[in-house]
Amino acid sequence: GIDLGKLLAKTGYVTLDPGFVNTASCSSAITYIDGDAGILRYRGYPIEQLAERSNFIEVSYLLIYGELPTQAQLDEFSAKISRHTLLHEDLKRFFDGFPRDAHPMPVLSSAVSALSTFYQDSLSPFDDKQVDMSTIRLLAKVPTIAAYAYKKSVGQPFLYPDNSLGLVENFLRMTFGFPAEPYDVDPDLVRALDLLFILHADHEQNCSTSTVRMVGSAEANLFASISAGVNALFGPLHGGANSAVLEMLEGIRAEGGDVANFVRRVKNKEKGVRLMGFGHRVYKNYDPRAAIIKKTADEILGKLGGDDHLLEIAKKLEETALADDYFIERKLYPNVDFYTGLIYRAMGFPTKFFTVLFALGRLPGWIAHWREMINDPATKIGRPRQVYTGETQRDYTGIDHR
Ligand code: ACO
Repeated sequence: GIDLGKLLAKTGYVTLDPGFVNTASCSSAITYIDGDAGILRYRGYPIEQLAERSNFIEVSYLLIYGELPTQAQLDEFSAKISRHTLLHEDLKRFFDGFPRDAHPMPVLSSAVSALSTFYQDSLSPFDDKQVDMSTIRLLAKVPTIAAYAYKKSVGQPFLYPDNSLGLVENFLRMTFGFPAEPYDVDPDLVRALDLLFILHADHEQNCSTSTVRMVGSAEANLFASISAGVNALFGPLHGGANSAVLEMLEGIRAEGGDVANFVRRVKNKEKGVRLMGFGHRVYKNYDPRAAIIKKTADEILGKLGGDDHLLEIAKKLEETALADDYFIERKLYPNVDFYTGLIYRAMGFPTKFFTVLFALGRLPGWIAHWREMINDPATKIGRPRQVYTGETQRDYTGIDHR
């Protein structure tokens, strides 16, 4: 075939597409989305089936290696992850340097970036064994890092991982447990968090995944590339939306719970007022992940004792928006983040921590994309063009004449 990109480059023409609304940056066989029909599949498997029948470790394997694992493959994968959950003691001390009220996302991205310095034996992008090792290290250590970021923020002692526990259970214990005290983990809570991680595990070329691929295209190692992805996810229009939804709901409650008035302000496009957790670049229909979460939100919140009033406000907001022409015309529906914040909060996580939970879920997707990118012979260093709109040539003027 013809390489259209090369052909166009020769003509000197470039395509201006801010936000890459209509530009594919790569070919990918990982995740399929049909935004109009509200379809999401990982490696061909519908998200609904994975949510109901699989678990996060298995989904991670599926995304990264392309197939569902056999029992033996799954056992080996889980065992390897369990063996690598500890952080180097020096890396543990790293957390002392941050202010106590630091946001956990930059703490997470800094610690992930620091993995490049602690695990120098797994940095080569072209050595499959090393890539496998850094894959396992990331899946194993990022939950430990996240739990330590939490412990640091609340001024509590760190817990070593207990590798007799599963990944999610271990993470919850390191987050909410105390040294030398038994931690009775609630299986419903484990299952709910595992489900949320599955739903966040990949979403093709979103901002953070594209960032991971872009940084990796310069042949930066997996740790460095994932750290960049964490920073992209920190943005309020991306992973930060789940915290923003909760802040929005609390704001509406503080002002007397007047949902109609809030929707009016959104429609009037008051500065900084958006219906957070609504709208999506690709979904122009109900986000299938939001549909699954909504179904389980009542159940989980009922069991965990969530904030019913905020859930009521959320449901009323959704109902009002879905019946309103502004949202109908623009095809704005609830996205994955609309209900997650309420669930995270009921689980006991502080608002600031919600985006970290998103990062934990998205990690296997980032890894899968980095590996696909590095193994794709068509990969080139990411280097977009621009349309220059500045001054044409002019002569330098001395400082006395400006
Ligand atoms: N509330 C109110 N109006 C909205 C919203 C919203 N949440 N989202 C989009 N619109 C409006 C825009 O103002 C625009 O209106 P206009 O045509 O009159 O100018 C129209 O809908 C199209 O919106 P864009 O901003 O062009 O859509 P884009 O694809 O660039 O943005 C985004 C998608 C960022 C998700 C946007 O819908 C948004 O800001 N939503 C709120 C934040 C959010 O929930 N983010 C999470 C995304 S999902 C994720 O990362 C997991």
